[in-house]
Amino acid sequence: MSDSNSRRPERTGPKQTGAKQTGEGRLPGDPDRETLVERMIRVDHAGELGAARIYAGQLAVLGKHPVGDTIRHMAEQEKKHLAAFDALIVERRVRPTLLSPVWNAAGFALGAATAAMGEKAAMACTVAVEDVIQEHYAHQSEQLGEDEAELRDLIDEFRADEIEHKETGLAHDAEQTPGYRVMSEFIKAGSRAAIWLSTRI
Ligand SMILES: [Fe+2]
Ligand SMILES: [Fe+2]
Repeated sequence: MSDSNSRRPERTGPKQTGAKQTGEGRLPGDPDRETLVERMIRVDHAGELGAARIYAGQLAVLGKHPVGDTIRHMAEQEKKHLAAFDALIVERRVRPTLLSPVWNAAGFALGAATAAMGEKAAMACTVAVEDVIQEHYAHQSEQLGEDEAELRDLIDEFRADEIEHKETGLAHDAEQTPGYRVMSEFIKAGSRAAIWLSTRI
């Protein structure tokens, strides 16, 4: 998967003075660079936990359904994303969100409940959640500079996966779910609230 954000010009030559730095253009009152990165890792770790649990909930209901293997593939990718942020939490000494137990339960419940409504509803949940996450990753990627190139590349890579998950959901007729708009907006609002909370708590 490639998207415009993952392609960057090669950085050669000794002159690095103009390189973009993390948190450039911060306003007075905005968190400092270190806090900014710490918050990113905390919220991304929480988000990947939530995503892994949503797919686990979906698999608990639809695991043996014909769509089970498609969901399993996405679940495997979420496990990789989560493992990467698990490692970063330790490496960068970031305190995980205090809300992990909530996302653990809420993610699974959301995945299982939508899957119980049927394959299309499960896919509608996937489309809504992945759209919020890919947007969130795009915003983070923009804030990260050359001093955090490794983290930025990881986020770009995961964002490409999330976009793929969203497209998989759309390809499985997510939009044909009865009440799609309402359901989608409800899940998106919940996902954005979870992001806001996990950044801070
Ligand atoms: Fe993910
Ligand atoms: Fe995903």
